[in-house]
Amino acid sequence: MKFSTRAERIEPFYVMEVAKAAQALAREVAGTREPMIFLNIGEPDFTAPPLVQEAAARAVHNGATQYTNALGLDALRERISGWYQSRFGVNVPARRIVVTAGASAALQLACLALIESGDEILMPDPSYPCNRHFVSAAEGKAVLLPTTAAERYQLSADKVRAAWNDKTRGVLLASPSNPTGTSIAPDELRRIHDVVRSHDGITMIDEIYLGLSYEEEFGHTALAIDDNIISINSFSKYFNMTGWRLGWMVVPEAMVPVVERLAQNLFICASTVSQHAALACFEAESIAEYERRRAEFKARRDFFIPALQSLGLTVPVMPDGAFYAWADCTQAAQRLGVTGSWDFAFELMRRAHIAVTPGRDFGTAEPERFIRFSTANSMAQLEESVARLRTLLG
Ligand SMILES: Cc1ncc(COP(=O)(O)O)c(C=O)c1O
Repeated sequence: MKFSTRAERIEPFYVMEVAKAAQALAREVAGTREPMIFLNIGEPDFTAPPLVQEAAARAVHNGATQYTNALGLDALRERISGWYQSRFGVNVPARRIVVTAGASAALQLACLALIESGDEILMPDPSYPCNRHFVSAAEGKAVLLPTTAAERYQLSADKVRAAWNDKTRGVLLASPSNPTGTSIAPDELRRIHDVVRSHDGITMIDEIYLGLSYEEEFGHTALAIDDNIISINSFSKYFNMTGWRLGWMVVPEAMVPVVERLAQNLFICASTVSQHAALACFEAESIAEYERRRAEFKARRDFFIPALQSLGLTVPVMPDGAFYAWADCTQAAQRLGVTGSWDFAFELMRRAHIAVTPGRDFGTAEPERFIRFSTANSMAQLEESVARLRTLLG
């Protein structure tokens, strides 16, 4: 069977190989003193809070399960709009909000709506692999620009200006970022957007981790800068609803009918049950629970990052959001007699029963230097990981 070049262009998720090996080893070591600890998982260890679960059950019970409007339930779009106002102090009218099947569907819709075949989209290296694949599935070309710790592993206005050519159509950013947990400083984002605008280009920003921001300086939505910025968001991370497949995007008003047409044809709508459930995310009781969980994620970061640093697993920039640590494992790998993050990840798995994600999926600039730890695991598991790492590397 011959497959499309579009499909062949999509690289495999290397992390799945590590995850599969970790699962196999986990079965072997399940009953031992050192069962597997999974620090490779990119999703919250929490599930939806009680009001959300109840709202989902109620929707099923009441038969509120037919298709919704392709743009999403009006009530949910209103609630998201209210959240931008109360949380970020930004007025985002509900008519510019499109509810989608996760940020993944939103990213696909944005790319399909805006990218012509051969258009180039500038992105940071390292970055979340699927985002460049959404660009390529829309026949565009993701151009990865290597970033540095000094740039917080994000694009800068100077870099965007220097890289822009006749084929460049825009930028796709993520703030806070996966895998680094670092955000773009608001002033720099403004400057990047100015450069993009001067070329009549598009600024797309994946703000899926924005709810999980820990520093006042960085916890602002790009939508405060300009109504023409396209922001992608999700119920997966802050709202702890990964498997419910629900997200949203905010687009300029003129883009709404285009996205609506695409969404009607490609998805019909996002899950109706999940949409009804998500209405309860914005109740005071749910928000209070989410805020407790955000504080827990921050406490984990504050424990785990200094511990990694003390073990020679240097984290060059303190993450200001999300639940990741992007650590330089060069020294630690040497200590274990291996070279590069891929072999180091397997060595950690075999010798300490800790699963992490090697850098390979996230870019091509320095994949062998870095591994990604996820702190979406309990404090007890993180403490146990540090103890094992200390025995192994100390
Ligand atoms: C940066 C980033 N964008 C998008 C996604 C996709 O999220 P969703 O579950 O909303 O489709 C993820 C998931 O890990 C992510 O890390």
